[in-house]
Amino acid sequence: MKRPFVVAANWKMYKGPSEATAYLQEFLSHATTVPQTVSQTNKMNKVLFLVPAIDLWVVSQTLQGTAIGWGAQNCHFEKQGAFTGENSPAVIAELRTPYTLVGHSERRAIFGENDEMIAKKVRALQDVGIEPMLCVGETLAQREAGQTGDVIREQLREGLKLRVESKPFMVAYEPVWAIGTGKVASPQQANEAHQILRAELRHIGGDALAQSTPILYGGSVKPDNSAELAAQSEIDGFLVGGASLQVDSFLALARTKK
Ligand code: 13P
Repeated sequence: MKRPFVVAANWKMYKGPSEATAYLQEFLSHATTVPQTVSQTNKMNKVLFLVPAIDLWVVSQTLQGTAIGWGAQNCHFEKQGAFTGENSPAVIAELRTPYTLVGHSERRAIFGENDEMIAKKVRALQDVGIEPMLCVGETLAQREAGQTGDVIREQLREGLKLRVESKPFMVAYEPVWAIGTGKVASPQQANEAHQILRAELRHIGGDALAQSTPILYGGSVKPDNSAELAAQSEIDGFLVGGASLQVDSFLALARTKK
């Protein structure tokens, strides 16, 4: 089965509604945006923008009807309630949001998210028709202790524990030591981790699940290191932080040839 190559921007806590709109208008002016044209000419990969929640309204208005997807970077796992400052998956879905990130290492490390919360978020998103992108990745200490495989297998297994079997999701492998550090995983290191994750997906849901689920690599992806990463058999796309903040570098990544 041929999996799509997915290039996702994670803007993190950058860009407000005005800057987001200006960026997307410029991006769209360079992009082929009619869905049929994109798939026919394959000029761009499947592209999506994971934006600050407060930008979701304008971003959804700007991108609906184009071939480009969007999503939030996090959500709560309940539909509503006394959860001051949180964003409801149902409200995110109201904006026809197709995707949302779950379990980013910054959420895990800075905001104390654990696998149990992450599993509930995956399920909550699927329940409202949003495709989750589940992030996994080891710290430098875990890699140096030879624990990479165990750590990412467990994060994947636990994160998917409550999933709806019939609904799709994506996985992003982001080694923590490569995020925002300029230190990219070597293509071999990344491919090896992706192989481990694909094998675990097979274990969890069989061959069809393993073959159809895109596994993206994230961690200091830039236009000058993207080609050799994309050349790896198990890398199905990128989750991009820093290099997604400028239109020209992200456009170059959006056009990566697989
Ligand atoms: P950088 O591309 O800035 O390393 O960030 C990666 C990331 O965390 C994307 O989610």
